[in-house]
Amino acid sequence: MKSISLIIQNARQVLTMRSDQKGPRTDVHMEDVEIIEDGAVAVSEGKIVAVGKTEEVLGQIKIDKQTKVIDAKDKIVLPGFVDCHTHPVFAGTREEEFERRIQGKTYQEIAKAGGGIKSSVRALRSKSKEELVQLTLHRLDRMLSYGTTTIEAKSGYGLSLEDEIKMLEVIAELNQIHPIDLIPTFLGAHEVPEEYEDRRSEYIELITQKMVPEVAKRKLAVFCDIFCEKGAFEIEESKQILTAAKNHGFKLKLHAEQLSALGGAKLAAELGAISADHLEFIDDEGIKMMKESGVIGVLLPGACFGLGMREYPPARKMIDQGLPVALATDFNPGSSMTESVPIIMSLSCLMMRMTPAEALVASTINSAHAVDKAKEVGSIEKGKKADLVIWNVQNYKEIPYHYGVNLVDQVIKDGRVAQIPSPLRGEG
Ligand code: NIG
Ligand code: FE
Repeated sequence: MKSISLIIQNARQVLTMRSDQKGPRTDVHMEDVEIIEDGAVAVSEGKIVAVGKTEEVLGQIKIDKQTKVIDAKDKIVLPGFVDCHTHPVFAGTREEEFERRIQGKTYQEIAKAGGGIKSSVRALRSKSKEELVQLTLHRLDRMLSYGTTTIEAKSGYGLSLEDEIKMLEVIAELNQIHPIDLIPTFLGAHEVPEEYEDRRSEYIELITQKMVPEVAKRKLAVFCDIFCEKGAFEIEESKQILTAAKNHGFKLKLHAEQLSALGGAKLAAELGAISADHLEFIDDEGIKMMKESGVIGVLLPGACFGLGMREYPPARKMIDQGLPVALATDFNPGSSMTESVPIIMSLSCLMMRMTPAEALVASTINSAHAVDKAKEVGSIEKGKKADLVIWNVQNYKEIPYHYGVNLVDQVIKDGRVAQIPSPLRGEG
């Protein structure tokens, strides 16, 4: 019998997310949460070694003096969330723009007038690596406090070779010093920076000739992303940049069809991207092409909510047509200022008519697939990382239902109880 370092036992429910379907869950399998009542999870060396009914698990393992025993009576256990689309490294906040939008200005109008991403670029360039690490650390603490244990983290507020590298180095350092696992994405094509406004082709050349090769050489990112949108990068430009990235070994992601139907979903399918994200304005053809090419749809209802949009992605249609759907916060200072996956689940249920089970699958195993980490995280299965969250609820449906509060009891990261500072520091 195996000695174990941790056991969580007597849980009212353990939701494993196991399924007969391999790969990203689709269609009816998007509700495969697998509920074990009176459940337990045993952990050794940071990995899950057993999961099942408490009685069964206790029969398979040995508890000794070193074993930490957590009684989860009247609580439930879920895998840690995988937040597969975030922009957590930034300097300065943009609540002034938030107010201007309330007064009637659009996101695009604010961007045109030099605000938006450009204002975050100015703020980020003025900060050192150390300052950015400090600024981002407490945001990661807040994510952890809401049950997130893995995130994808994008660059994209540097927009020069030096500042993009600086952002990616900050992400690499945070991955070393913070319990959350960070998966880096290069987003040099977030917008054309001010100094290249009249010579966009030169900026595209800078990305394809200098940034992409340098980021690849230093192994600073796994994915390459782009903001494919009017005012950011058009379809042909996106194709050029993403093709260069693909040739350098990057897996591809796109911000697609967020504010208009430009055709980014079809481009994602054509290029074999791992995901296309946002998709508020996707059409039927786009859904079909993504499905046929195995592209995951990452939906970010926090950005719709944060921008006060009426349009949300057609999640119901996507799921019913067999497209795998994942959810993420899109945490960023412009369109989605939240670190909370639970609020994203609430929005996906209420505004996109996803069921609580679909929202949970989309935030765990499907989002793990969207960052190519499903072998390690996203479900409670033997051999996977012991990234577990104990919730102060009786039933998983309470999580999206009881919105705007934090119902997390404890977070276990790599088999250890995570220490979350309290109170958490605010922004600024
Ligand atoms: O995902 N759409 C582009 N990028 C972000 C917003 C970035 C910003 O406004 O700072 C998004 O919504
Ligand atoms: Fe984004």
